[in-house]
Amino acid sequence: MNNQDELKAAAAHAAVEMVESGMVIGLGTGSTANYATRRIGELYRTGALTDIVGIPSSIRTEELARELRIPLTTFDQHPRIDVTIDGADEVDPSLNLIKGGGGALLREKVLAQATHKNLIIVDESKMSARLGQKWAIPIEVIPFAVDSEEIFLKSIGGKPLRRETDDGKPYQTDQGNYILDTDFGPIGNLDELAGYLNDRAGIVEHGLFLGLAAAVIVARESGIERMER
Ligand code: A5P
Repeated sequence: MNNQDELKAAAAHAAVEMVESGMVIGLGTGSTANYATRRIGELYRTGALTDIVGIPSSIRTEELARELRIPLTTFDQHPRIDVTIDGADEVDPSLNLIKGGGGALLREKVLAQATHKNLIIVDESKMSARLGQKWAIPIEVIPFAVDSEEIFLKSIGGKPLRRETDDGKPYQTDQGNYILDTDFGPIGNLDELAGYLNDRAGIVEHGLFLGLAAAVIVARESGIERMER
């Protein structure tokens, strides 16, 4: 494991300490969230965690959870999630986030809004004074609208880039949509930008997660820092 992976694992393990037997757990997506899912699987296998069920935020995470034999559930059986553990691409001092680097932003936001306590796990490289400094906002659009949405995103000051697979095809989300990674630079008014994106037909969801994180667990070289809302 390289140093950054060690930090990711440390943040994940610290978050999983807050999971209790009997909980409904949202399982995030990405390399950091995978450490948490693996840890949950390990604790379930050894009997340290019992009577848990998970709701995965992507097909990839569902496959991992099945491999680990974590019992899975759905919203019709468990409409409320006790705790979700997920990563982020960029985190500001108010615990607002950019997510969706792994393409799972839509399901991740659905889980986050159904969750009592959202725990975000990051290594220190994800911390930022202002969102947009480090990462473009992933914006999920229906394929039919992609050209029109590009024009719209440029009109509000963004620089959209169509996400592609390694072999140059349009990247498709679990829902079959496209992603426009849109660079807005450091964002002055997050609520205003989120409002423009929320109001636009053809945009299914965007990677600004505002006011959703209950706590961010940051793994630093100097140790674990917990930032609470
Ligand atoms: C997945 O769609 C994302 O929201 C991830 O949570 C985010 O990209 C962080 O991924 P890593 O933990 O792999 O950096």
